[in-house]
Amino acid sequence: MPDDARLLVADKSQDVGRAALDGLLQAQKSLPPWLFYDEEGCRLFQRITELPEYYLTRTERALLITVAPRVVSDFSRNDTGTVLIEYGASDESKADALLAASDATGGSVFGAYVPIDVAAPALNAMAARLRRARPDLVVHPIAADFLRPVSLPPALARLARLGFFPGSTIGNMRPLVAQRFLRQAQATLGPGARFLVGADLRKDPDLLIPAYDDAAGVTAAFNLNLLVRLNREAAADFDLTGFDHRAVWNDRESRIEMHLVSRHRQIVRVAGVAIPFAAGETIHTEDSYKHTEAAFEAIATAAGWTLSAIWTDPARLFALYLLEGPASS
Ligand code: TRP
Repeated sequence: MPDDARLLVADKSQDVGRAALDGLLQAQKSLPPWLFYDEEGCRLFQRITELPEYYLTRTERALLITVAPRVVSDFSRNDTGTVLIEYGASDESKADALLAASDATGGSVFGAYVPIDVAAPALNAMAARLRRARPDLVVHPIAADFLRPVSLPPALARLARLGFFPGSTIGNMRPLVAQRFLRQAQATLGPGARFLVGADLRKDPDLLIPAYDDAAGVTAAFNLNLLVRLNREAAADFDLTGFDHRAVWNDRESRIEMHLVSRHRQIVRVAGVAIPFAAGETIHTEDSYKHTEAAFEAIATAAGWTLSAIWTDPARLFALYLLEGPASS
C-alpha cells in the first residue's frame, strides 16, 4: 500500500465527532487517546516531557545513551546492514542515541531508519532534518497507525532489524492490547529481529501522581485540550471551566488513570447529541500502566518474544527491555 493510501485509511478512522460520541455514550464516559495529538496537543505534550515532575523522558534518554553501544553491538557483526524501525516516532531525539552509536570499526551500524507515526507533518519534518544531518542514512517514514499491521519497504528486506518503541507508550495499552501489539510487531519485523522497548516502572504513587498532575498545570491543559478540540472539530459546546483534570493511581490495575471531572450537573452537546453529566462524573481519557519487570516480561513472553536484557537507571524509575524474536517463524 502506498503511503498516501495509508494516510487515507488513518484519516477515515479519525472521524472526530463519531469517535467522541462512541466514548461519551458509554456508562463510564471515555475519549480515545489519539484525540490528544492535534497541533496544540503535540506542543503541550512536548512541554510535559520537559517538566521537572515528568521524570520519564529524561531518564529514558540518559539510559539510552548509556546502553546504546550494548544494544547495537549485536548488530555490528552482520554485513548486511541494519534498519532501525521506530514506532510512534514524533521526533528523532531518542532514535539519535541509537543512530549515533558506531560499530568496532567506527562505522555506523544503521543503514536505514523507518519512523512510523500517525502525525504525518511532524514525521516528514523529522525525516527532512535527519536526511540533512545524516546524508548516508536511508530515511523512509511511514504515516500510519502502528496498532495495525505495517509492511516495511521491500528495498530494506535484506537488512537486519531492530525495532524501537520508546516513551512508555506501551504503557498506554491495556496488557492484552500490548501483547497483541508486540505479536504483530514481531510479524512486521520478521524472523531474527530484536525489539527495544522503553517502559516506566511501578513505583510509589507519590512520585507517579505529580508526573501526571504537575504544579504548572501543563498536563491539565493537555487533558482539557481534548474538549477544546471537540468544541472546534465536533460541534461541541463544552464549558472549559466546568471540568477539572484528575490523575488517579489504580493500584489493582497498576496504572495511572487520567480523567476529566464534571464540576457540576450539566448537559453538553456533541455533534448534535445531548450528553448529560452528573456532578463529579468523569470522562476517562487515558491509562498509563506501570508494569514491574516481571509483569512486562510476562506480556512480552506471551507475545512470543524472549527477554534478552533489562536495563534500568540507578533509581530504578524506568526500564529498557531488549526482546529477541524467534530466528524463523
Ligand atoms: N506515554 C506517556 C505516559 O504514559 C503519555 C502521557 C504522558 C500522557 N502524560 C500524559 C497521556 C497525560 C495522557 C495524559 O507517560
